[in-house]
Amino acid sequence: MGNIQSDSLPESRHFKRYRFFAKNKVADAASVHSTTSEPNEPNGAVSLPNFRHIGGRTYNLAENSIYLLPNDPKEADRLHEQHYMIKYLFEGNYEPCLKKALQSIGTRVLDVACGSATWMLDMATDHPHVEFFGIDISPIFPSEIKPPNTIFAVANVLEGIPYPDNHFDIVNMRMVTGCWHDKYWPWVIQEMYRVVKPGGYIQLLEPDHTFWVIEPERQQVWKKWNAWQMNRGCNTKIARSIHKMIQTAGFVNIQKRYMSAPLNWGGHIGQLCNDTWLGLMMASAPRVADKIGYTEAEFEWECKEIAEYSKDVNEYINFHIAIGRKPLLLSVMEAA
Ligand SMILES: C[S@@+](CC[C@H](N)C(=O)[O-])C[C@H]1O[C@@H](n2cnc3c(N)ncnc32)[C@H](O)[C@@H]1O
Repeated sequence: MGNIQSDSLPESRHFKRYRFFAKNKVADAASVHSTTSEPNEPNGAVSLPNFRHIGGRTYNLAENSIYLLPNDPKEADRLHEQHYMIKYLFEGNYEPCLKKALQSIGTRVLDVACGSATWMLDMATDHPHVEFFGIDISPIFPSEIKPPNTIFAVANVLEGIPYPDNHFDIVNMRMVTGCWHDKYWPWVIQEMYRVVKPGGYIQLLEPDHTFWVIEPERQQVWKKWNAWQMNRGCNTKIARSIHKMIQTAGFVNIQKRYMSAPLNWGGHIGQLCNDTWLGLMMASAPRVADKIGYTEAEFEWECKEIAEYSKDVNEYINFHIAIGRKPLLLSVMEAA
């Protein structure tokens, strides 16, 4: 289960170029786990050709990827915590306009770059009549213990989303700010547009990677981390433009809002936000610390100082959400 049956997919203008990819490259998550797992790898991580072990963590160094974070079980745990922080912050897993689609039998939802898939698993449990599909460049999603209405596949979105045109009612993607070079964003959104049905929705959610309160000199390590990322083509401030990007791609009825997450204060959300932010920094440390002038120990100390100080000054991070709808009119025009 989980493999894409490309022979049974309807042929379409855009999908032809993905047939080869779907048939040859998309691995079934379960088979990836069962055939290549190395029991001796650090952290119980899966071993695949692009995977590298650096500083005790495992990373996927795919050719066209600039993604910094590991893909090991420790990272899966961080993503799990992050999911609940976002869910509590936004008081739910989706914006109200998606409710009707999620009540219908046969609705199909795609989660792009699903990671450990906590959003999908949570959603699939709440909506057992809806089919959920998840893709990620690394098989860190569950392969065996999962709701029956979920299907996962390994896929690099930069090589195209391996599904036909107009296939999903909802496509979701979030927390992917660091995943690819800024120049690929329009392509990824265009791919999402292609696979959404006319009248279907896109939902994006990203943090803006900005500390608004702490004085610049007290957040040097964070500023240098962001500058280094920006310099290598990763737009860490993309959250503020996601609504414009989906509009440019052709989505309409755009809605957007943002929520401010307290960092290390303000109760449960603040604690989760702190754990996931510190977890992000620690997970990137083996690949970044020396590039921005720190030893790993110094880098870690500086980050913990920020988190402590954040409590005193009530620092926060803004998370932006944007929703758009693929125009219905398109189907009328295409049919004509
Ligand atoms: C920070 S995690 C977020 C995961 C998930 N969306 C969530 O909210 O928990 C980013 C995910 O993007 C995946 N990713 C990075 N580059 C990718 C690519 N080119 N194609 C597909 N997935 C990618 C990573 O493997 C990782 O699981």
